[in-house]
Amino acid sequence: MPGVEVKVEGLTKSFGRANIWSDVTLTLPPGEVSVLLGPSGTGKSVFLKSLIGLLKPERGSIVIHDTDLVRCSESKLYEIRKLFGVLFQDGALFGSMNLYDNIAFPLREHTKKSEAQIRDIVAEKMDMVGLKGDEGKLPGEISGGMRKRAGLARALVLDPEIILFDEPDSGLDPVRTAYLNQLIIDLNAQTDSTFLIVTHDINTAQTVPDNIGMLYRKHLAMFGPREVLLTSEDPVVAQFLNGRRQGPIGMSEEKDTAQAAREMAEIEELEGLPPVKPQLEATAGLPERKAVQRRQARVRDMMHTLPPAAQEAILRSQQQEVPQRATAVGASPYSAPAAEAPTQTIPRLDAPQTPEHPRNPENPENPEAPEPPLGSPITTRPPSGPTAGPGRHRFR
Ligand SMILES: Nc1ncnc2c1ncn2[C@@H]1O[C@H](COP(=O)(O)OP(=O)(O)O)[C@@H](O)[C@H]1O
Ligand SMILES: [Mg+2]
Repeated sequence: MPGVEVKVEGLTKSFGRANIWSDVTLTLPPGEVSVLLGPSGTGKSVFLKSLIGLLKPERGSIVIHDTDLVRCSESKLYEIRKLFGVLFQDGALFGSMNLYDNIAFPLREHTKKSEAQIRDIVAEKMDMVGLKGDEGKLPGEISGGMRKRAGLARALVLDPEIILFDEPDSGLDPVRTAYLNQLIIDLNAQTDSTFLIVTHDINTAQTVPDNIGMLYRKHLAMFGPREVLLTSEDPVVAQFLNGRRQGPIGMSEEKDTAQAAREMAEIEELEGLPPVKPQLEATAGLPERKAVQRRQARVRDMMHTLPPAAQEAILRSQQQEVPQRATAVGASPYSAPAAEAPTQTIPRLDAPQTPEHPRNPENPENPEAPEPPLGSPITTRPPSGPTAGPGRHRFR
């Protein structure tokens, strides 16, 4: 199912007299992966719950398929909700049901499908998240990582157009988080659904999304293409995305301004921001994410509005494109022509693709390395590095 656009405008949410956030405006581009960051308690979960209509913001709009969720009827809201798949923090599985019944639950609840049809769908989704063979296990018998994947399979059974993840990586060790991140990118390649992920994990924020947003001080501090936030010198954004102690964000809400100023001076002493890490790609053998092409066109259109550092990072990301994918499953739009014209901006979509010209000679991927079979349990895929998925990029 192709992803849909989610257009949020001027959204404001309070509980009684406590305002959580105001005037949040952002558009989740169809089929792209976006991440929402922010210190604890800034209302990220409240934002996700507002998107699915579980909470009612008092102002603003959330438009999906021409319907404003904030104002529509209950029955319309019920319909729209079916477009969503949601992965809550703990997977939110029923403890007394085995994985099969947990994952089948939304199908039995919301559809009139026969048990035979349900069996096929559950098998497909369990395979997608690498849980084939674990149908009979109870949630209490499996690891946290497996529970997340089971929750993900359940979120996928109704073929959602929009998938929301609330801290999918909380409680997972770095290796399992790396696997989960690769799984998220692979699922996006397979479904072309629109993803929004709330996370605190810096590596996830740096390597998974197409877009990043940040909630801070009851407002959306920034939302845009990953390169914009990852190169941003904005003190709050830079502090959060680089996990720094120094900056305006303190242990309890905000620091006093004098201390923040002292620390900003300290940062001046630090070397600049680290280079933008490459974004994860879908595992070889899977289709290229459809969002990549759409995003390229979108970012190209806004290129002139972006800060120079972001423009540079975008250009560099084209140069880092790994040629292996280009030869394996068709050239990526980011990959081709810049070898001949290194100074050009994003290549035109209709420009000739030249997969035979490797873009990054320093990164000879081993073409002999066997790729794991599709849908194999991801826990059995050996990570190729400290942060690895199947090892398509060098991570520093
Ligand atoms: N149903 C609710 N009623 C009243 N206050 C709530 C409710 N849900 C969340 N809050 C408050 O909203 C704020 C933001 O919560 P939350 O969205 O969970 O933060 P985050 O996910 O960013 O850590 C918190 O102060 C929380 O206490
Ligand atoms: Mg939360």
